[in-house]
Amino acid sequence: MLRFLTAGESHGPSLTVIVEGLPSGLPLVEEDLADQLARRRLGFGRGPRMRFERDALRLTGGIRHGRTLGSPVAIEIVNTEWVKWEEEMSAAPGEPTRRLTAPRPGHADLVGMQKYGFDDARDVLERASARETAARVVVGSLARALLGQIGVSVLSHVVRIGDVAYEGPRPGPTDQGVVDESEVRCVDSETSSRMVTAIKAAAKVGDSLGGVAEVVAYGVPVGLGSYVHWDRKLDGLLAGALMSIPAVKAVEIGDGWRQAEQRGSEAHDAIYRDDQATTSGGYGRRSDHAGGLEGGVSSGAPVIVRVAMKPLATLNRPVLETVDVASGESTVSFKERTDVTAVPAMGVVAESMVAIVLAGEALRKFGGDTVAEFVRNHEAYVAHLGSAPSTARPL
Ligand SMILES: Cc1cc2nc3c(=O)[nH]c(=O)nc-3n(C[C@H](O)[C@H](O)[C@H](O)COP(=O)(O)O)c2cc1C
Repeated sequence: MLRFLTAGESHGPSLTVIVEGLPSGLPLVEEDLADQLARRRLGFGRGPRMRFERDALRLTGGIRHGRTLGSPVAIEIVNTEWVKWEEEMSAAPGEPTRRLTAPRPGHADLVGMQKYGFDDARDVLERASARETAARVVVGSLARALLGQIGVSVLSHVVRIGDVAYEGPRPGPTDQGVVDESEVRCVDSETSSRMVTAIKAAAKVGDSLGGVAEVVAYGVPVGLGSYVHWDRKLDGLLAGALMSIPAVKAVEIGDGWRQAEQRGSEAHDAIYRDDQATTSGGYGRRSDHAGGLEGGVSSGAPVIVRVAMKPLATLNRPVLETVDVASGESTVSFKERTDVTAVPAMGVVAESMVAIVLAGEALRKFGGDTVAEFVRNHEAYVAHLGSAPSTARPL
């Protein structure tokens, strides 16, 4: 099984991640991790700092000569601006130079101050900040590398920003490059332009936009997840992981919301024999309404999830009412650095969370202390899928 823990504050010296459960022998190159982190910085509507900076990584455990050792992998994402923040974020005893006492609506500021007993919202926002999702993208890169060994690939694309939606064909397993070339990570150039126009219009009036990203996992074999235990259902695991992303407010598996309006005769995926369908043991589905999940178990069809993000709560104009907790007076919320929209970046984080969940379930199913063992177990399982079901009864 795969577990990970992240630590670190947005403007602290670094974010740290420890990943446990990866088998030995997985090839890992720092450049690949950095490339995935760079993808998280993409997207029209993000600040200029996002576009030009590259995250600096330190691989401090579990990897030797470009391969995992089977021990916990430890990675640091270094804050390249630490010198500017060293005094404000120092771990040594002291006082902040300025307390942030007007909690921002739509953020964790007020509830965090109340829960942990702080009088400075910075004590909350430094950790609640979506900067933490950079650490998840690093874990996602490791998960992706493992999944790649068994032919699973995970991609995302933006299907809505504000009121501009993309409803065309879904990108295929090799289309991630095309998606990433778009400023808004939308596969269609005409829709991309309309999304950019919508972002510019929101920016002009100091407002923000939400939207929807779709994540698709190709090559997932039948049988990940479980219908036996509520807490091992793959749909539940995916929904939980995706809902944990800051500002994500809804997750849809397959055609989830649309299915609620349909009749049973039109909402389900008919089954047929398909000798080419190796990941599903020779059975195809006529449609993909279920998003590749039946009873909490992967069917071998592409896994499809959609993730809805709210419009960002920090605005470039002071309109949201709040209360200064020091004076008790009504005021407007302060502005910490903010984007107009972060839907393209959220898509990359969502991809990472899907990869982490799938890698964890693949390890649960195929096991192995070495990558070779993991791959062998997967191959044997897929080869056996084609044969007739066992009629053996337990003794
Ligand atoms: C990649 C990413 C970037 C984000 N950037 C911002 C931002 O610039 N400004 C902002 O107000 N919220 C931003 N957020 C959302 C906040 O972190 C989030 O709304 C806040 O922590 C409260 O959590 P909640 O919305 O889940 O309740 C971002 C989220 C993600 C996933």
